[in-house]
Amino acid sequence: MLDRRRVVLAVTGGIAAYKTAFLARRLVESGAQVRVAMSKSAAEFIGPQTFAAIIGEPPYQDLFGADDVSPHTMLARWAELIIVAPATAATIARAANGLSEDLISATLLATEAPVLIAPAMHTEMWENKATKRNIDILRSDGYRFVGPNEGELAGGDVGVGRVAEPEEILSAARAILEPSARGLSVLVTAGGTREPVDPVRYLGNRSSGKMGHAIAEEGARRGYEVTLVTTSDLPVSGGIKVLSVETADEMKAAVDGVEPHIAVLAAAVADFKPADRASEKLARSEGLESIELVKTPDILASLVARDDGPITVGFAAETGGVDRAVEKARQKGVDLLVYNNVLEEGSGFGTDTNRVSFIASDGDVEEMPLMSKSAVAIELWDRIDALVDSRM
Ligand code: C5P
Repeated sequence: MLDRRRVVLAVTGGIAAYKTAFLARRLVESGAQVRVAMSKSAAEFIGPQTFAAIIGEPPYQDLFGADDVSPHTMLARWAELIIVAPATAATIARAANGLSEDLISATLLATEAPVLIAPAMHTEMWENKATKRNIDILRSDGYRFVGPNEGELAGGDVGVGRVAEPEEILSAARAILEPSARGLSVLVTAGGTREPVDPVRYLGNRSSGKMGHAIAEEGARRGYEVTLVTTSDLPVSGGIKVLSVETADEMKAAVDGVEPHIAVLAAAVADFKPADRASEKLARSEGLESIELVKTPDILASLVARDDGPITVGFAAETGGVDRAVEKARQKGVDLLVYNNVLEEGSGFGTDTNRVSFIASDGDVEEMPLMSKSAVAIELWDRIDALVDSRM
């Protein structure tokens, strides 16, 4: 809960401004005190009356006003956190260069509070070198970012630049104002391992790494120090340490080198690998009839067995009901198990959505609806944060 915490919501001019109304509502529901500052162009997309109705007072719109002599310094000093959502390329550019010719840029220049930026723009603008430079400057100045996501943009375009969802922005705000993270470290494994048969072929599985990467991103957003051991080359935000691996043995070696407070093992690790790896490509004419398999190391078991081991979250991708996963949660000694049925539509490998159940160590099952993988990551982290708060 953001009990009475003071949040300034700065809304700039993009179509995504309408989503900020939901964010304002969620902040109020979370107990925060909210003041809204709107740019002139934001008011082209959403009316000040909408925010006034949600937060109970009219938004600030002008740098110069008869009532408030200096609204920018008042907001800057009052805020414990400033959220800029949506943040246009122009707002980002002004902040990066210390310009202060309007209410929002002047407030940003005047504040000592942390600032969370939720960029929203077309992909071309997001990828422009000037924007990238500005983002780098703001990151090194300590500004925090949430998103942008990939998806549908204004005018029907699709690409990176879509503003983060209100729930993602809320969770990033909570991570800043009430961090469970407190410098704790997290290991996340992601993707499917590939076990070579010869230099060309491998035994693998359909895991894309999307779920594990979403978990790593959300952990970093909440302020945890994240190491991601992954077989996937999906893009990863700066600040996350990435160890790229291919096989179960490589994944085990990478994990052995990390001593995390929390381990989330979302990787689909091969249970078996070929006993021998041919050094030359196997030829059809040689007629390989079978491949001898040997067991791979159980990475999860090795973490659970550590003295003073981490809070451990396992995954169980099954093709049947939840019962087997409940048994697995008990057997494996994990603190939490995330179950999904990969045969269900929209749930499993390669999709952007997932329908999971969370299984507690006592076998308690909590079924979730079909959600985006980033929403699943948020729900999962809410439960991990609760475990952290109860144990550490
Ligand atoms: O038994 P099962 O393979 O379903 O267990 C899945 C869980 O165990 C996942 O969290 C997976 O990342 C982990 N695992 C592992 N090492 C293996 C096999 C699975 O860490 N060799």
